Amino acid sequence: MQPRHFISLLDINGSEFRSLINRAIELKNHRNPDYQPLKGQVLGMVFEKSSTRTRISFEASMAHFGGNAIFLSPRDTQLGRGEPLEDSAKVISSMVDCIMLRTFKHETVTTFARHSSVPVINGLTIEQHPCQLLADMQAYFERRGDIQGKTVAWIGDGNNMCHSYIHAATVLDFKLNIAAPAGYQPNKMIADAAGERIRFFDTAIAAAKNSDLIVTDVWASMGQEDENKQRCSTFKGYQVNAEIMDTAQNDALFMHCLPAHRGEEVSAEVIDGPQSIVFAEAENRLHAQKALLEFLLCAK
Ligand code: CP
Ligand code: NVA
Repeated sequence: MQPRHFISLLDINGSEFRSLINRAIELKNHRNPDYQPLKGQVLGMVFEKSSTRTRISFEASMAHFGGNAIFLSPRDTQLGRGEPLEDSAKVISSMVDCIMLRTFKHETVTTFARHSSVPVINGLTIEQHPCQLLADMQAYFERRGDIQGKTVAWIGDGNNMCHSYIHAATVLDFKLNIAAPAGYQPNKMIADAAGERIRFFDTAIAAAKNSDLIVTDVWASMGQEDENKQRCSTFKGYQVNAEIMDTAQNDALFMHCLPAHRGEEVSAEVIDGPQSIVFAEAENRLHAQKALLEFLLCAK
């Protein structure tokens, strides 16, 4: 039987997404060191790119749950020397219980999953970042309850985070206003599949109007560092600042997956201000991924 993977938010339905959020909240509020459902289990973690939050939260989750995590860098494994992905997936999955990958190409994760005998988790690709959305949605639900029917504004690059917000809007049924400069819009197929929940705006102000949650991300993602200067100039009108937050609902929240660049995609005043919940959002990576690991590895 094929294992259950978590490569995209479209791999879970609305009821599963809500159960994961509720379980993450429960795990966060009632930490029990004796609860070790993954005792003796091992998570392999392949990182082609840097990470602070994803690596630490997965390692800590496994440790708290009684298991272990192994950090695998392509630099030090045969993955970086061209061993076929298919072979690597078969071999690694024969030795561990779950594998998380952070890769450049999205196809690397999907190919790996096809040949893995254990669950595969997407820890970020150039196309999607579904684990981050578990944490973001948990942070929203904790403060405001269910997000169904609410309006979220995505301001900035139509990148991996934007794609995962589009998927979250589909699965949890909220409206997503997107303001991204021409040439940096999200993937059309991903946006079209979400239908009328997704609306595009020409300006950040227009997208933010009456929104319940404002979200942004870096203008140059990992692997796009060379484009940074040119992107900073193209994205100049897309900074989330006090004017944008004032346009949203009075009780609107601000989120950013971090790392952030103050003065670029977000002003210091907003990210360090009262509406920002970025550090709670980051902490939730730990709780949400514990819920995810339990869902994938302990399901009856
Ligand atoms: N938000 C996030 O995924 O952070 P890291 O790159 O530090 O893992
Ligand atoms: N869009 C960013 C997210 C980092 C967590 C990137 O891919 O680099």
